[in-house]
Amino acid sequence: MKHLIVAAHPAIDSFTMALTRAYAEELEALGHTQRTRDLYRMGFDPVLAAHELLPVSAAHPASADVVAAQDEIWWADALTVIYPLWWLSMPAMMKGYIDRVFARGFAYESANGTVHGLLSGKQAVSITVSGAPLPMLVKSGDWTAVQALQDTHILRSAGFELLEHLHFDEVAPQLSAEVVDQHLARVRSCASRHFGESATGGRLAS
Ligand SMILES: Cc1cc2nc3c(=O)[nH]c(=O)nc-3n(C[C@H](O)[C@H](O)[C@H](O)COP(=O)(O)O)c2cc1C
Repeated sequence: MKHLIVAAHPAIDSFTMALTRAYAEELEALGHTQRTRDLYRMGFDPVLAAHELLPVSAAHPASADVVAAQDEIWWADALTVIYPLWWLSMPAMMKGYIDRVFARGFAYESANGTVHGLLSGKQAVSITVSGAPLPMLVKSGDWTAVQALQDTHILRSAGFELLEHLHFDEVAPQLSAEVVDQHLARVRSCASRHFGESATGGRLAS
């Protein structure tokens, strides 16, 4: 299978980017093809411009970086997004990627108040990180909001089959090496659970 991994964290040595590398390495070890798009290091511009709200035409061509990012999503059988929760949401960098790349006519169409996803047939995995414990987020209702806004409103609305939202909670700056290793093993097992040879629906051919 072909995988597109889109990650957003400003620090290359962050826990989030370590998860990204481990997940990508595991996919390759399983025989898959992957492209990782590290939005900060590639200097992705997250600011949606006024002309990008207009229907694409000869007079208003789509921005080249958006076209390239959309081509990568078309190329991929599965999209994995990886980011920390900031104010319970995605970093502005990732949100800007969604705003610009998941454009009307590419990711969805809407009419009469109904949204129709255009990316059906593709799979998705969401991987997030928080400082707060997950039970606390669940108890407060915040986790329901995260799932509604990020899993359902974005990925499922665009037509993706969301295989898993894998969350790492209580991630603080000074995690022990042992805990980090356990987390990296967890993200690798997520890749093999869904895309290993024994996975239901796991497909190696691309
Ligand atoms: C701007 C900002 C906002 C944050 N907001 C939240 C939050 O709303 N809830 C939470 O549990 N953690 C929050 N955190 C903590 C991060 O989720 C946590 O530090 C991060 O996931 C750790 O992973 P990292 O080492 O890859 O940065 C926030 C961190 C930052 C920098």
